Amino acid sequence: MARKKLIRFADNEIAKNVIESNKSLYSTVKGNWNKDFFHNDNPITLELACGRGEYSVGLAKQYPDRNFVGVDVKGDRFWVGSNEATENKLENVCFLRTYIQNLEQFFAPKEVNRIWIVFPDPRPKEGDRKRRLTSTRFLSMYQRMMPEGGWIHFKTDNEPLFDFSLQQIAKYPTENLEFTRDLYNSPLAEDHFGITTKYEKIFENKGFKINYVKFFLKGIL
Ligand SMILES: C[S@@+](CC[C@H](N)C(=O)[O-])C[C@H]1O[C@@H](n2cnc3c(N)ncnc32)[C@H](O)[C@@H]1O
Repeated sequence: MARKKLIRFADNEIAKNVIESNKSLYSTVKGNWNKDFFHNDNPITLELACGRGEYSVGLAKQYPDRNFVGVDVKGDRFWVGSNEATENKLENVCFLRTYIQNLEQFFAPKEVNRIWIVFPDPRPKEGDRKRRLTSTRFLSMYQRMMPEGGWIHFKTDNEPLFDFSLQQIAKYPTENLEFTRDLYNSPLAEDHFGITTKYEKIFENKGFKINYVKFFLKGIL
């Protein structure tokens, strides 16, 4: 394994803002995030497929009265966000290393207030539909972890994934659904929060437009 990755993994093992399989909170945090980790009653936002955790850290700076958890299976990527949060003394950010399909092992029903899904892997193969993070399998799981009226935000450069996602969302009763196929040139542009992720920059530089939808689900399939 590359030396840089090994150093990052070693840092994650001692980082207070990283929860992964060798940490005690890993098996006890479900239902206890605010009591045992954040030590307040503030609402929790998840950033799924967080990569370097740009939204978790960026929003945590803008909203000190909210808590943020970045989730990704690749610890060497969120090492970047973990370090930035530590350097900026942000106590309202945490990174959880797990597969997103296992989220209900870590969050109790209604424990999550809001979810951002930011440039997830498009998984274009037909056989991978259920592995896309906006498939009904995942949307129903997100809904179980949120109270009714919990916002879901989704950004992607990938048009086929965006079309698929809108079709999946349409299977639910929703409220306040708004979307754009060109976020920066739309009335929803302020939902950008001035935060650009690594993958967003790559695709923007290639001339791709950013698709964005926000909504909340009113029921579970
Ligand atoms: C295309 S990258 C986007 C990273 C970041 N959001 C950005 O915009 O730069 C997708 C990320 O999702 C993570 N990922 C993909 N499938 C996942 C899963 N099922 N569970 C956890 N993480 C996953 C990958 O490890 C990767 O970091």
